[in-house]
Amino acid sequence: MNAVADEPDGATPLDPDELDGLRHRHVTTRAELNELEQANIEAGLLWLARQRKTEILEDSFLRELHRRLFGGVWTWAGGYRLREKNIGIDPLLIGVQVRQALRDAAYWADHDTFKPLEAAARFHHALVKIHPFPNGNGRHARISADVYLAECFRMPPINWSNNTDMTRNSIRRTDYIAALRAADNFDFAPLLSFVGLPPDPDACLEGAE
Ligand SMILES: Nc1ncnc2c1ncn2[C@@H]1O[C@H](COP(=O)(O)OP(=O)(O)OP(=O)(O)O)[C@@H](O)[C@H]1O
Ligand SMILES: [Mg+2]
Repeated sequence: MNAVADEPDGATPLDPDELDGLRHRHVTTRAELNELEQANIEAGLLWLARQRKTEILEDSFLRELHRRLFGGVWTWAGGYRLREKNIGIDPLLIGVQVRQALRDAAYWADHDTFKPLEAAARFHHALVKIHPFPNGNGRHARISADVYLAECFRMPPINWSNNTDMTRNSIRRTDYIAALRAADNFDFAPLLSFVGLPPDPDACLEGAE
């Protein structure tokens, strides 16, 4: 099972009890697991596409979406994690902090606080920083940000992968993880650039004044 636990940079290692939740006992390599998860995600995306409207800013919907994306592979999909991870907050605080992140995202949409892409990037970062689930946080939060863009701003999805495989180590993934780490320190500029938002000219002027 070690090969399955062999994660790319910036991923969350699974605990042995979480690995016990793997529904497919025959899986021995990371590549096999990636394939199964990808097939599950595609089925989940089909389910998502059939929803006329989603409640993307409800925590119950976020959990349901995670279950639809990963529930065919992991028994614990759709449930918040119970263990501490190298990324993410104390598991006891997940419920409260997810609801706060959703309230923030609703406020941004209602008050035009940010441009849509910036709101989506910040929403994405808020979710992955909390890291609600044992695994699949990156993929779930990228899809959630895209649903938020569509549902609240009528905007097309972010080009996260730029034609690379974001689940493997690549320059695109390195940039993505570095941008999230900068955002952890409240510097959102790299993440905004990553999602394709041109630099804000006013931001440069502020320092010059
Ligand atoms: N310092 C960080 N701050 C916030 N989020 C981070 C940080 N480092 C990694 N992440 C996020 O955590 C994700 C990895 O968590 P996890 O393994 O649960 O998700 P995943 O969907 O399985 O991974 P992947 O995104 O590789 O497909 C990364 O994709 C990224 O979104
Ligand atoms: Mg992972």
